[in-house]
Amino acid sequence: MVQVVQFFEAKEKCWVLTTDRTAYVLGLTANGRLEHRYWGERLPRPADYPGPGERKASYAVESQMLPFDEYPAWGGFLYKEPCLKVTFADGVRDLALVYSHQRQEIGQEGLPVLVITLKDNYYPLEVDLHYKVVPQCDLIQRWAVIRNTGQEWLDLEAALSAAWQLPSLRDGSYRLTHLSGRWNSETQVRQTVLTDGRKTVESRQGLTSAEANPFFAIDILAPDGTRASEEVGQVWFGALGWSGNWKIAVDHVSDPARAYVAGGINDFDFRWRLNPGEEFVTPPFVGGYTAQGFGQASRNLHLYQLDYLLPRSHAKQFRQVLYNSWEAVTFDVTEEKQLQLAERAARLGVELFVVDDGWFGQRHHDRAGLGDWYVNPEKFPRGLDPLIDQVHELGMNFGIWVEPEMVNPDSDLYRMHPDWVYHFPHRSRSERRNQLVLNLARAEVAAHIYAWLDSFLSKHKIDFIKWDFNRPIAEAGWPAAPLEHQREVYVRHVQAFYDIVEQLRARHPAVVWEVCAGGGGRADLGALARFDQCWVSDNTDPFDRLQIQEGYSMAYAPKTMMAWVSSSPTSQHINNEALHLRYRFHSAMTGSLGLGEDLTRYTEEQIAEAATLVAEYKTLRHIVQEGLLYRLNSPRTGDLAAVQYVSRDQRESVVFVFLHSQHYWQAAPRVYPRGLDPAGYYRIEGIIGEEAKTVSGQSLMRVGLQSNLDGHFGSALIKLTLG
Ligand code: DGJ
Repeated sequence: MVQVVQFFEAKEKCWVLTTDRTAYVLGLTANGRLEHRYWGERLPRPADYPGPGERKASYAVESQMLPFDEYPAWGGFLYKEPCLKVTFADGVRDLALVYSHQRQEIGQEGLPVLVITLKDNYYPLEVDLHYKVVPQCDLIQRWAVIRNTGQEWLDLEAALSAAWQLPSLRDGSYRLTHLSGRWNSETQVRQTVLTDGRKTVESRQGLTSAEANPFFAIDILAPDGTRASEEVGQVWFGALGWSGNWKIAVDHVSDPARAYVAGGINDFDFRWRLNPGEEFVTPPFVGGYTAQGFGQASRNLHLYQLDYLLPRSHAKQFRQVLYNSWEAVTFDVTEEKQLQLAERAARLGVELFVVDDGWFGQRHHDRAGLGDWYVNPEKFPRGLDPLIDQVHELGMNFGIWVEPEMVNPDSDLYRMHPDWVYHFPHRSRSERRNQLVLNLARAEVAAHIYAWLDSFLSKHKIDFIKWDFNRPIAEAGWPAAPLEHQREVYVRHVQAFYDIVEQLRARHPAVVWEVCAGGGGRADLGALARFDQCWVSDNTDPFDRLQIQEGYSMAYAPKTMMAWVSSSPTSQHINNEALHLRYRFHSAMTGSLGLGEDLTRYTEEQIAEAATLVAEYKTLRHIVQEGLLYRLNSPRTGDLAAVQYVSRDQRESVVFVFLHSQHYWQAAPRVYPRGLDPAGYYRIEGIIGEEAKTVSGQSLMRVGLQSNLDGHFGSALIKLTLG
């Protein structure tokens, strides 16, 4: 194994963590503090990196933010975002962490992990800083374990996963890229130049949220005045693995300019009682550096997900082409109608048939039934199994929707256990979509959810679960708990959610899991460590989706990105009918393909065309789902969008081109593929109106391709195959 952690005990202690192209350097100061020294391009020799104190800033800057502490803990002159804030039992709130010891181990997937332990210089508190190095992806996954080694309690008031320090620069040089939005327009790419102060992206909603996503990228102004692009420029980036309240705070000071990024579980309304001997483990925060722009940053994150993060049981399998009945029937789920849809879906080549909301309890609309997970006897007089069997006989797998963390007040479960939801005494219980959130911090609630799902999966031959979460948490009260534990609810909720899914996966290893939260409200690395795929947005408009999917792809692998072909009028009231079926398919084929429309309305001609497109997707999904993504033209910046996938061996590639509009008969802009073998010759298929031809990789990348698209909302799928 390549040595990725170099440890020097010589004059002063120093660690150099190296990946294939980057290095991350830590060292000890004379007074035993752990300081950050370097994060960037890998240099030839350890001596090339900055030594102790070489990055020392002026007194003015030091007093503002103690900028080089690797894991800044609140105390002394620290005024920037602390990673750790504690109250000890005697009321002392000041921390002074110094180096204690280190160890190195081999973690999951054979990846090396460096663990540096810090301890308070007086109080019995230890912090293990973990660094898992992912050499091929140029990433470091960090997390902290905070331990009470004393005889008295202590309270954590902030316990972030990591702080990432960027190099000192000229003022005004850092630009933050982040993902935000709302329901129906998740993961929109936003960019802002940092000025002095703090910019925080976060969720306080109890879930990852549609409004903000736990990902950041920071690029800097190059000496020639240019910014990082998709292909070039230095970018420091990271993504957090947490599906509850999270925060990424970016501190900026000028003269000289400094930026640092601290992230982890949100400390808003958070407190965690750590009793003697107990530990608190923060979620992982993965970070990386590249000099090859945002495109390489994304590819590194994608490979990390494909090769290390996604649940291993299904990581290497293709995501199946699925059909989901939600947009076709909403709550009007019956065995008869589902079967009609299933028969149609099978004819199209669909591999997984999913029954969405509406199959259980008294769930005829969104005002009742959530929490009552029995098969509705009017909708399924013979139970669920005859439908499951018929779907299997049609050659498809069977999937079903659940929303286990929720309850409608109009449900048997709520009538029986009104205290099982989050609430405060003397306060109203705010409903959203007529539902309340179950308090998973209560052991009996988590046990109840696990038990019914375990029994449901044991009784029926279910191959796939879509797990939804349709509202944020409000009035996060847990009156039954001792006061000192009541603010642990947000964290305990996510821990229980993860725990239930992990246990169910272990008990039912063949089942494939999709995460969903009213669309894309749970897209994060914590969910993707436990779910095989993600529902990205309820907005299935193929044009809007290009932007949502572009943003999603900044951080998350296309294999996990579920995209449906849908029709007009959809339940989202979006008029897609004007758009050609081919365009709708092409938009959805840039991720893991699904279909969501009412297939009983399809003409024979549409069935034939859709079947051809599904078959075509199956011939290229190994490139889309397993390959490298290049965002060639952004849907945000012009009339033409293009996205390309290249197999890891560079032998095959597919380019999707979308022309939104054409003005004054101007030819569509050329697209310039990337990532090909310049010396290889590729057969090009799919250029409108042209026969297949063979061209060198170098020519394709330099001269580009003319798709020959014209008119409004046209699309092309161009295949490149090495001869
Ligand atoms: C929100 C999801 O995003 C939709 O796909 C659908 O499952 C509905 N919930 C069902 O209530």
